[in-house]
Amino acid sequence: MKVINLSAKNTILNKYLAEIRDVDLQKERMRFRQNIIRIGHVEAYEASRYLDYAEKEVQTPLDKCSVAVPQNDIVVGTVFRAGLPLHQAFLDVFDEADNAFVSAYRYYLDKECTKVGVKIEYMATPILDGKTLILVDPMLATGESMELAYKAFLTNGTPKQIIMACVIASKQGVEHLRKCFPDENVILICGAIDPVLNERKYIVPGLGDAGDLMYGAKETKE
Ligand code: URA
Repeated sequence: MKVINLSAKNTILNKYLAEIRDVDLQKERMRFRQNIIRIGHVEAYEASRYLDYAEKEVQTPLDKCSVAVPQNDIVVGTVFRAGLPLHQAFLDVFDEADNAFVSAYRYYLDKECTKVGVKIEYMATPILDGKTLILVDPMLATGESMELAYKAFLTNGTPKQIIMACVIASKQGVEHLRKCFPDENVILICGAIDPVLNERKYIVPGLGDAGDLMYGAKETKE
């Protein structure tokens, strides 16, 4: 797996990342979602470097011109619920893409909340044979939800190319995916890679719970 860490270079992306991490700015939910979308646009542009291109002739009002355009049949795949703004960002850029959705949620396996399980319940996807599957999930913590989402999607066909994108990854999550995807043609695009996971498997420094910051806290009536 080839890992691309976009914040290793100084670009405007770092401003968007700084804003989504900022505990005061996080109070504005719309701004938080909008910044995730702006990061997604940058990541989708990065992903476009790895597609296959062919020349297409276009007639302008003045003359013909030849333009190299992507040929891939793209499917953007997302994990509910936190993946939705990032998904929309990729769909803005790859506007003809098909779409795949899977619901995955984290739950704690022990009372101390140190072991996390990921449950997959719902899936809606086109057939993936021969397609370019772009899997997006904003927070790559342990890497298990990305892995499980991928395995769930695989039950509906074998993509010819896999590109994954996250906003913030942990080093541990990246290493987990490296083991799952030893093939160098698999691409992982990260906005930033943070050093640790805490005992509750949150990325540190990270930004907190991305889904809650986008859509509000989850509440369960006992
Ligand atoms: N999911 C989140 O929203 N945040 C984390 O830090 C890890 C997983």
